[in-house]
Amino acid sequence: MELHAKVTRVALIGAGAVGSSFAYQMTTAGLCEELVIIDVNKAKAEGEAMDLNHGTPFSSSPMRIWAGDYGDCKDAEVIVITAGAPQKPGETRLDLVAKNALIMKEMMRQIMESGFDGIIVVASNPVDIMAHLAWKYSGLPKSRVFGSGTVLDTARLRQMLGEYFNIDSRNAHAYILGEHGDTEFAAWSNSRIYGKTIDELLAEDDRYSQKDLDQIYINVRDAAYHIIERKGATYYAIGLGLVRIVRAILGNENCLLTVGAHVDGQYGISGIHIGVPAVINRQGVREVIEVSLTDEELKKFHHSAEVLRQTMEPVLR
Ligand code: 2OP
Repeated sequence: MELHAKVTRVALIGAGAVGSSFAYQMTTAGLCEELVIIDVNKAKAEGEAMDLNHGTPFSSSPMRIWAGDYGDCKDAEVIVITAGAPQKPGETRLDLVAKNALIMKEMMRQIMESGFDGIIVVASNPVDIMAHLAWKYSGLPKSRVFGSGTVLDTARLRQMLGEYFNIDSRNAHAYILGEHGDTEFAAWSNSRIYGKTIDELLAEDDRYSQKDLDQIYINVRDAAYHIIERKGATYYAIGLGLVRIVRAILGNENCLLTVGAHVDGQYGISGIHIGVPAVINRQGVREVIEVSLTDEELKKFHHSAEVLRQTMEPVLR
């Protein structure tokens, strides 16, 4: 279609708190001209579209937002999926698997029936498993279906490290890898703060300790629980994380983000989606990057992969 060549369309499936936060942040991101919002609750999608449209005279570039249906996915470059049953207090992300797997299967059927041929970014939890199922049910290439993975956890770690070391969090280069959930781990051996390793920083200033860093890791790992206890859900930071991923795709950025990508032997793990450093561009996941890790970190990685594999197994059968 002629229009398709000129207009960039992003489709959002799921107009809940995460989807709406993403949509809101997209109105100021200047990344696309069209945003279609799809939700089983059409009235909610319509309400969000109306409210967001009314703000566009204040945004940096024009944008058309509407509540659509799966047929509108056809001309989308990117689909962001946030739909699914939400995580309840005390419930782990993995508890949600069976419920959300069924929802994912039906969504993929409808998306693929539309003739969609772009990139799918999944944020529904448990995100690594949902991304894997989306890939499997869609039949699209591995590079084009991935999850938000540990993008948010990595952001949480960087924010907390920024506060601890009193530096700009953008200068804190450190990754959370593995499952987006309880078995994730901090790849400390690979971190650089102002270009220095963690070992160097601890050695040169006794205000800093590994004990504090271990606590920071725990705070990152449990952040969602802490927020859910207080306000019922998390949505702003993941919304921004999703905008960051979409920016990397549409801008063909070749940017390194810890998304939930399909691994084919990297880190000794195969056949699942899991949080890894990956280069993101117009192709989706250009490649998974293997950073150096200690044996202990690798062990944590393998444990995390095993937990994901075991949780997913009953759904795949
Ligand atoms: C989060 O980590 C709940 O996965 C969501 O904030």
